[in-house]
Amino acid sequence: MTMVASDMLSDMTRLVGTGPAVGTAAVSMTTQRLTIGLPAERDAGVLFAMTYGQGGLPVTSKLLWNGPIDLDETRAWCAKYRDNDFYDGGHHWLIGDRPHPMQAPPLVMGAIGLTPGNQAGMAYLGYWLGAAYWSRGFMTEAVVAVCSHAFDVLNLHRIEASVFLSNPASSAVLRKAGFSSEGVRRASAYKYGEWIDELVWARLRTDQ
Ligand SMILES: CC(C)(COP(=O)(O)OP(=O)(O)OC[C@H]1O[C@@H](n2cnc3c(N)ncnc32)[C@H](O)[C@@H]1OP(=O)(O)O)[C@@H](O)C(=O)NCCC(=O)NCCS
Repeated sequence: MTMVASDMLSDMTRLVGTGPAVGTAAVSMTTQRLTIGLPAERDAGVLFAMTYGQGGLPVTSKLLWNGPIDLDETRAWCAKYRDNDFYDGGHHWLIGDRPHPMQAPPLVMGAIGLTPGNQAGMAYLGYWLGAAYWSRGFMTEAVVAVCSHAFDVLNLHRIEASVFLSNPASSAVLRKAGFSSEGVRRASAYKYGEWIDELVWARLRTDQ
């Protein structure tokens, strides 16, 4: 994983010798196959198409979020999380491919984010990919990269994710990315008019 050098430098400057990172701006990252970049307004249309209405159901039926109300909401989301400070709502990235340097920008395939937990040093992880990009190991690659960022740059201690019991693909991602299952949180998610169970997964810095 590499970060945009100037961003990394400014983060390192702020983080040396500190505990949990406060005042840490989001940075872009790359992995072998992916760009994990900051949202830009030009991305709103693609994100909207993958998550809105009936067409977005493969994605949104597995999330607490029911998808955007309209394109303006997605545009506002992109604007809000561009360069956002971690403790001001979390870090949210888009997942794209890694185009040849002469081709730009990356093809946007999904999103991943870290939201601050109820204590400093903790974060909740959430993610989704457009259905066309499933089952190629992309999300596992993205989760591994974001966890490295969370532990090594944000200096977090624990990352937690909750997964609908009916979503074995997401549990497989977390298991492959080094998370441990901590049990079932009963009737903890309200989706489509009913309370459903979630599996809680967590990875600690000391698990690395
Ligand atoms: C969950 C999701 C992110 C997975 O992304 P992905 O890039 O397809 O994941 P990966 O390819 O890295 O890994 C998926 C794993 O799940 C496994 N899997 C897929 N469907 C499965 C199923 N029905 N039962 C069990 N395992 C399943 C795959 O075999 C793969 O494991 P493997 O590599 O050991 O074979 C994607 O399906 C998605 O965005 N779903 C909708 C939104 C969502 O569920 N978000 C997470 C909410 S907690």
